[in-house]
Amino acid sequence: MKRVIGIVSGKGGVGKTTIAFNLGYAFSKLGIKTTILDLNLTTSHLGLYAGLSHLSLTLNDLMREDIPVLEATYKLPIGLNIIPASYSLEDLVGINQEKISEIIEKIDSEIILLDSAPSLGKESLLTIRNSNYLLYVAMPNIVSLLDIVRVKKIADELEKESLGIIVNMRGKSKHELGNDEIESLTGLRVIQEIPFDDLIERANQIGKSIIEIDPYSKTSLSFLEIASKISGIEMPKISFWYRVFGRFLKPKF
Ligand SMILES: Nc1ncnc2c1ncn2[C@@H]1O[C@H](COP(=O)(O)OP(=O)(O)O)[C@@H](O)[C@H]1O
Ligand SMILES: [Mg+2]
Repeated sequence: MKRVIGIVSGKGGVGKTTIAFNLGYAFSKLGIKTTILDLNLTTSHLGLYAGLSHLSLTLNDLMREDIPVLEATYKLPIGLNIIPASYSLEDLVGINQEKISEIIEKIDSEIILLDSAPSLGKESLLTIRNSNYLLYVAMPNIVSLLDIVRVKKIADELEKESLGIIVNMRGKSKHELGNDEIESLTGLRVIQEIPFDDLIERANQIGKSIIEIDPYSKTSLSFLEIASKISGIEMPKISFWYRVFGRFLKPKF
């Protein structure tokens, strides 16, 4: 059955797009047909993180005209499909946001990830309304978690099921909240922690998944673990030697 999963946070800059892209990559690596849709229409980044510097047709065109969804779908070598939003603000003119549900229906994938805009406005509601499930993303600090509580309130009112909260950038600060505190503050289950890892910044800048450039790191494995927990498909077995020495074997880039 098709699952539409919204990646939400309320707050900006906590890692939604990074997680949407790398989690999508991880699902693809497990052999699951996956598409990511960029619903951050005003400040879109998904295409950049996926290495799509030049876009011909985008989600904006799909919302404006009746053209086949595949024409604005970009397939990465791993098999992951990306439907980016336009980088140009002029492309917001004439789009019909009501078409999103129709577009989602036409996508032929088992998993569809929706990368949400920040804040709690109309744009982020687009993700919540069009999702069956929500994956919350927060950094382990009070500001980020307060915004999660706000999003969750809206999601509960719309009766959207939660897949849990991803605690991103763990280890960045010495003064972080623990997972127990996060769970009791938000009422959400922590599904996974992702470490603070400078290589993510680099990977986003060169438009590649960290799983491709550093496949055996704790960070990459954490994305594969989330994909495995959600899909029920077992993680590929990685030998002890690769876990310890894998970093030295990573492809140069
Ligand atoms: N685990 C991480 N470790 C280090 N940097 C990260 C991590 N996750 C995200 N980032 C960086 O944080 C910034 C915001 O991430 P982004 O995914 O764009 O957030 P959002 O989509 O929530 O606005 C980017 O510069 C990204 O490279
Ligand atoms: Mg984003």
